[in-house]
Amino acid sequence: MYLTSIKHLVKEEQYRKTKSIVEKFGEPGGTGELLQKKLLEKSDNTHNWVYDYWLDDMYLNQRLALPVNSNPAMVFPKQDFRDHKDSLRFAAHLITGVLEYKERIDTRELPVDFSRGQLAGTPLCMKQYYRLFNTYRLPGLKRDTLIIHETGSTEQEHIIVACKNQFFVLDLVVKEKKLKEMDILTQLEKIVKMAENSEERQPPFGLLTSDGRTEWAQARDVLIKDSVNRESLAVIQKCLCVVCLDDPSGMEVGDTSRALLMLHGGGHEKMGANRWYDKPMQFVVGEDGVCGTVCEHSPFEGIVLVACTEYLMKFMTGSPSKMGRATSVSELPTPRRLLWKTTPHIQGLLKASAERLQRLVRDLDMDVHKFEVYGKEFIKKQKMSPDAYIQVALQLAFYRCNGRLVSTYESASIRRFHEGRVDNIRSATPEALAFVKAMTDQKTSNSDSEKMKRLWDAINAQTNSTIAAITGMGIDNHLLGLREISQEIHMEVPEIFTDETYVASNQFILSTSQVPTTVEMFCCYGPVVPNGYGCCYNPQADHLLFSMTSFHGSTETSSAVFIKALDEGLVEMRDLCRKRNKPQSNTAAASKAVEKSQGAGSNL
Ligand code: COA
Repeated sequence: MYLTSIKHLVKEEQYRKTKSIVEKFGEPGGTGELLQKKLLEKSDNTHNWVYDYWLDDMYLNQRLALPVNSNPAMVFPKQDFRDHKDSLRFAAHLITGVLEYKERIDTRELPVDFSRGQLAGTPLCMKQYYRLFNTYRLPGLKRDTLIIHETGSTEQEHIIVACKNQFFVLDLVVKEKKLKEMDILTQLEKIVKMAENSEERQPPFGLLTSDGRTEWAQARDVLIKDSVNRESLAVIQKCLCVVCLDDPSGMEVGDTSRALLMLHGGGHEKMGANRWYDKPMQFVVGEDGVCGTVCEHSPFEGIVLVACTEYLMKFMTGSPSKMGRATSVSELPTPRRLLWKTTPHIQGLLKASAERLQRLVRDLDMDVHKFEVYGKEFIKKQKMSPDAYIQVALQLAFYRCNGRLVSTYESASIRRFHEGRVDNIRSATPEALAFVKAMTDQKTSNSDSEKMKRLWDAINAQTNSTIAAITGMGIDNHLLGLREISQEIHMEVPEIFTDETYVASNQFILSTSQVPTTVEMFCCYGPVVPNGYGCCYNPQADHLLFSMTSFHGSTETSSAVFIKALDEGLVEMRDLCRKRNKPQSNTAAASKAVEKSQGAGSNL
């Protein structure tokens, strides 16, 4: 499967070399067999043989800064706040919703999720939900650590409120009584007042968390020499979540600018320092109505984040604020401002972090685009999987822009397995290449029926790869497992993993993910390589939403150009579907998938 996935993406000579390396690896009695045996032994003794390898490889070993490069964001609908107090009311209501949701997690009341779409109806592992509020990504010099506090721990009875780059502790339990929404609002108002007092203002320490992981770990080693800093860091580490009360950014409030503000805060001159990027759940409430969530990704996937934030959005609109009725439970102590001891050396570190964040801000090229010509209902009517169709459209757009296909990542949930996270659907299939060539070749004008056949081949190949990946038959996690276990038994890294093809095939120039929502909001994230695209899409019944990112620093990419090609391709694909009906012989795989999903209780 690996060879098939890369054959059409590399030069012929390189492919021949890789093929012989792979064949040697797979020889009877060879390295592959030995490693596979070790991996099977590991799988006998662990809940999930790939989880630790995957977590390290995907997140904890990665050294790039969290904003843009790693942390995804969920952008809420723009809020129309009447005044500043209105935004604080919203924040207090949101915090109340968070506490209600957290209570459901602690009491294990969350209903088990079941898969939808392909192979619908299978129960899914819920473990990721139990890591939403009790985790923290601690920076390390070589590898970060994901700290997991015990669920419902009494140490975790506070949230951190960020306001004007200051950090405040908002205790949620006072004299053994839980704060009511009115109390939370009172505390937020006090925090805003305290943050305005410029005499007590502390340096913007949150900036350090926006830096590269090694740089932040080095800075943290300097900070913790002082007990004041140590104490502040410990309190942040144990909080439930961070709530960032943002000043108006001064930017025009469109989808793209709101997404940018969520991903990087607009840099240190805007809201970029009013964040603590290590904390997995960070809610942003902007006075100008820009709201959302920024997440440290290592404890959970976007799908779990969607479930949580949709619950909160429904709570916000469905359950009335209890402000008017309840009065303060007791004399509330003033929230505590976190203090920092700084030195000229630390000031220098803050300045360096600010500059690096600024570079990231300048570099990000983002385009949030709503394709309104049709949505997933049209695609379903063609008896095609909407996800596979969109993936093929992305391949067509990439080919139009670059004249080639590249190694592509699409996240496939493997929550059917205990502690399952994701594997990769390699969407740049040979069938996709044949289709995009048929669509773009000017010299040999392909007939519509030829193009339609190729479209079906591409859709079926994509659908079959999806089914393989979500049922644990993907190749990326397996190869990762074989590579990592070779290190555990102190073997020299096998050639298959040092081969340039393997290295290139793991450079995902196109990194894509479907994050569908049922309420009005959308997810976004950055590219994973300097010359790449990050594409998060949200298929809706009558439209498709794309959050496209790339870096201005690369001469090979442009989010706007890609979006334009995508728009054109989606229209061409619709026209093609309208002209021709599918040939019977090619529909087997897709029809089977739908039949299975219907049989398993899908709501098709
Ligand atoms: N004809 C008609 N309808 C079809 C069809 C066909 N041939 N194939 C699928 N459909 C329907 C499905 O039944 C489903 O219907 P629904 O909207 O009523 O539920 C809908 O089309 C969507 O199915 P499909 O487009 O095939 O996608 P999917 O929902 O199975 O999703 C993945 C595919 C890969 C995105 C999904 O399995 C997955 O892994 N999601 C998680 C991704 C993730 O983790 N993202 C976050 C990363 S941080």
